[in-house]
Amino acid sequence: MINSLFNRFILTVSLSFTAFGTAAQDNLMVIDAGKKGIPVQETMYGLFFEDINYAADGGLYAEKVKNRSFEFDDPFMGWNIFGNVTVCDDGPFERNPHYVRLAYPGHPAFVTGLENEGFFGIGVEEGKAYRFSVWARTSGAKEKEMISFRLCKNATMGEDQAFCRGYIEVDSREWKKYEAVITSPVTEAKASLRIFLEHLSPDQGVDLEHISLFPVETFNGHENGLRKDIAEALQQLKPGVFRFPGGCIVEGTTLETRYQWKNSVGPVENRPINMNRWNYTFPNRLYPDYFQSYGLGFYEYFLFSEEIGAEPLPVISCGLACQFQNDPATDPHASLDELDPYVQDALDLIEFANGDAGTKWGKIRAEMGHPEPFNLKYLGVGNEQWSELYPERLVVFMEAIRRQYPDIKIIGSSGPYRDGKDFDELWAAMRELDVDLVDEHYYAEESFFENNADRYDGYPRKGPKVFAGEYACHGVDGKKWNHFNAALLEAAFMTGLERNADVVLMASYAPLLAHVEGWQWRPDMVWFDNLHVMRTCSYYVQQLYACNKGTKVLPLTMNGRPVAGKEGQNQLYASVVKDSAKNEYIVKVANLSSDSREISICFTRLPRRQKLAPEVCCTTLHSDNSLAENTLDKPDQIVPTTSHIADGLKDNNFTTVIGPKTFAVYKLTYSE
Ligand code: AHR
Repeated sequence: MINSLFNRFILTVSLSFTAFGTAAQDNLMVIDAGKKGIPVQETMYGLFFEDINYAADGGLYAEKVKNRSFEFDDPFMGWNIFGNVTVCDDGPFERNPHYVRLAYPGHPAFVTGLENEGFFGIGVEEGKAYRFSVWARTSGAKEKEMISFRLCKNATMGEDQAFCRGYIEVDSREWKKYEAVITSPVTEAKASLRIFLEHLSPDQGVDLEHISLFPVETFNGHENGLRKDIAEALQQLKPGVFRFPGGCIVEGTTLETRYQWKNSVGPVENRPINMNRWNYTFPNRLYPDYFQSYGLGFYEYFLFSEEIGAEPLPVISCGLACQFQNDPATDPHASLDELDPYVQDALDLIEFANGDAGTKWGKIRAEMGHPEPFNLKYLGVGNEQWSELYPERLVVFMEAIRRQYPDIKIIGSSGPYRDGKDFDELWAAMRELDVDLVDEHYYAEESFFENNADRYDGYPRKGPKVFAGEYACHGVDGKKWNHFNAALLEAAFMTGLERNADVVLMASYAPLLAHVEGWQWRPDMVWFDNLHVMRTCSYYVQQLYACNKGTKVLPLTMNGRPVAGKEGQNQLYASVVKDSAKNEYIVKVANLSSDSREISICFTRLPRRQKLAPEVCCTTLHSDNSLAENTLDKPDQIVPTTSHIADGLKDNNFTTVIGPKTFAVYKLTYSE
C-alpha cells in the first residue's frame, strides 16, 4: 500500500517535470529522502599498500641508501667501491651481520671509499636538511678516524662533483652510532652518496655498518619515517582502512620468502632483509636490486594507519606459498600439522598491536615508542588463495584467533578471480566458515566496470561481508595505464559499491604506488620519482568518494531501478549519501556517454523539518580526451573542478546537464 502510494507520488512528480524537457524527464533520478538509510562504514574507502613498484624501499620509506647494511646477495649491490674496502660478517647486529672495512689502499695518493647509487639515484632538495647516520668503529692502530660523506652529481661540468659534504669523527674501537645533518644547496634528482676514509696510512682503518641518509623532514617528523610528499598524498585520500603489507608478498614464492612481520619490528638495524618477489616475478621488468629492508615494517604501518585515521588491516601468511608459482605436488606449503608457527604469528601480531606493555609483544611495541595499543580490529589470513588447501588452513587460524580474540574480524579470500568455479567454491567455503569479510580482487577490462555496477545489488545481505580489496580498470588493446577513461569507469562502478553499503564494508584500489623508473605493474594510483608525486585520475575518483562518503546511503532510482548504466539508463550511473554531521545530501553521477545528459535529481519524502538550500555545489572530473593522463611533468592536467549553482534547486528538484564522459559530485545542504 505504502509502496503504491509512493509510486503514484513519483509518477506525479515525474509528470510535473515535463517543463524540464524530455531529456531531464528521461533521466529522472528519484531520491527517497524519507528512508533511514544504510550506514556508511568508517572503513570506506581504503588503501591497499604493497611493496611493489618500489612502493616501500625507494618510495614511501624515506631512506635514500640502497643496501645500507650490505645484506643483499651481492653485498656491494648498489655500491661502488674504491681502494681497500672489504666485507666482513661479524658485525654488531646478529640478523644483519655484514659490514664494510675501509683500510689503507696501498699508497697515500690512492683513495679508499664507497659510493651508493640510491634508488634510481638519490633525490635531494635545495635548502632541505638530510641526516646521515652510520654505525662505526675504528679498526686500525689509531683510536680516532675521520670519514667524510658527500652528495655528488657525477655527470657535471662543475669543478667539484660534490655539492654538499659533512665529516664524522669515529672516536672509539667499539661500535657506536654517529650522525650528522647537512643541508643541500641544490635540488638534484640523481645524486650519489660518497664516503671516504679521510687520512690514509697503513695503520689506519674504520668499519662501517648500516649507512643511512634520511630527510630530516619526514611525515610527522619520525626519524625512521616516511617520505612526506607521498605520505601526504595518501593522507589526503582520507582512507578508512589501510591494508598492508600486500598482496603477493604476504605469501612468498617459497614459504621462506613470505613476509614475516616479526622480522619487521624492533631496532631497524637488526631487521633482516628479504628479497622482494617483484624483483623477478615479471622477468620482462626485472629489478635484481629490489629487496625489502623492512625499515618500513609493521610498527611503522600501524603508526601510519593511526596518523592518517585509517583502520589498520594487516594480512598474514596462511601457510600457503604463492599458489600461482607452486605446484602443490612439489609440497611447497606448510602441511596442517606444520601450521602452529603461522598461527602463533597471527596471535602474536594481535598481541603486538593490542596487548598491554606487560605482554611479550606489547612490550616490544611499547619499547618502539607506542605504549598505547593500536586497537587492531581486522586481520586478513592469506592473500589470493584457492582450492581446498585454503579453507582447511583458514579454519585452524579462525579457531585459534576466535578462542583468544573473539572481537577480531577475520578476512578470508575469494581467490584471484572475480567469478568462476574457484570463486564460487571459495565464497561457499567462506560462508560455511563464517568469516567476517571476504576479500575480492578484480583487475578487469573496461566492459567489466561498465557492466557490473550492479554486482553487489543481488549479494546476500546475511553472512560474510565484502572487502573489495584489490581492483582497478585495466584497459584492453594497449590501454593498460592510468588514463581518464579507466578512472571514469571506476567511478561509475563505485556507485555500486556505495549503494551496497550493507554488503561492501571496505574497498581499495590497487596497487597504490609506483616509481616511474621501477614499476612492475600498472596502472597504479599514485606515481612518483625521486622528487615529485603525481596523482592519477583514479586517485581523484577515490578521493571524491572518500571525502564525500556521507553517513547513510539512501535509495536513488531511475525508472524504479538503481542507476547502474542498464538498458534505458542512458549510460548513467548514480548513488546518493546523506551526511548527517554536515547536513548534506551528496549525489554522485557518472555519465559514460559521449553526449551530455540533462538529468533531474528529485528529492521525495524529505523529512518535514528539513529545508534544502537552493545552491548546489558541483565538483566534476572530466577530460575531453579519454586517453589523457596526468604525468609527473603535468600532474594537474585532469583534476576535479568545483562550481556553485546559485539557484540550482527548485521545489526539491535539481535539474542540470552533466557533460559527456564526466563524473560529477553534487552537494546539497539542508537546514533543520
Ligand atoms: O596488486 C598486485 C598484485 O595483484 C597483488 O600482489 C596480488 O594480490 C594481486 O595478484
